[in-house]
Amino acid sequence: MRENECYHLRGETDIATAVMGSYIYARSCGLAQQQISEVATTVSELATNVIKYAFSGEVWIEHLFQSGREGIKLTIIDRGPGIADLQSALQEHFSTGQSLGLGLPGVQRLMDEFAVETSTEGTRVTVIKWRS
Ligand SMILES: Nc1ncnc2c1ncn2[C@@H]1O[C@H](COP(=O)(O)OP(=O)(O)OP(=O)(O)O)[C@@H](O)[C@H]1O
Ligand SMILES: [Mg+2]
Repeated sequence: MRENECYHLRGETDIATAVMGSYIYARSCGLAQQQISEVATTVSELATNVIKYAFSGEVWIEHLFQSGREGIKLTIIDRGPGIADLQSALQEHFSTGQSLGLGLPGVQRLMDEFAVETSTEGTRVTVIKWRS
């Protein structure tokens, strides 16, 4: 059972630190190579959104054991402006940042569980990858 980890996001370079941390964490939890990559990609996309749209935030990583299953839970939190139109933001090619608009829908597809809570107080994305 691994301890929780928290990575603070204050600038671009913190994204890479959080991505590498999540990669090592996922590997030490025994996830398959493909799953480790999916976890790292998820952190990359969500941490990039935090820096781009909310300027600062945190990535929490937890090792889960639930009803006989083992997995990794990621919680990416910020106190930015929130996602004004969440339904659109979850569709491919929707972007308010002149970007591809593939981050959130991509993460939703890659992970086993996916939830977004957002308001004018900030955004919290919670995802889980179960060990195969
Ligand atoms: N943490 C956040 N705070 C506020 N708005 C957000 C946040 N994350 C995403 N959004 C909004 O949701 C939209 C869709 O996000 P998504 O990551 O899918 O695409 P993108 O960041 O615009 O482009 P890409 O990730 O493909 O470069 C963003 O354009 C932005 O308007
Ligand atoms: Mg994005």
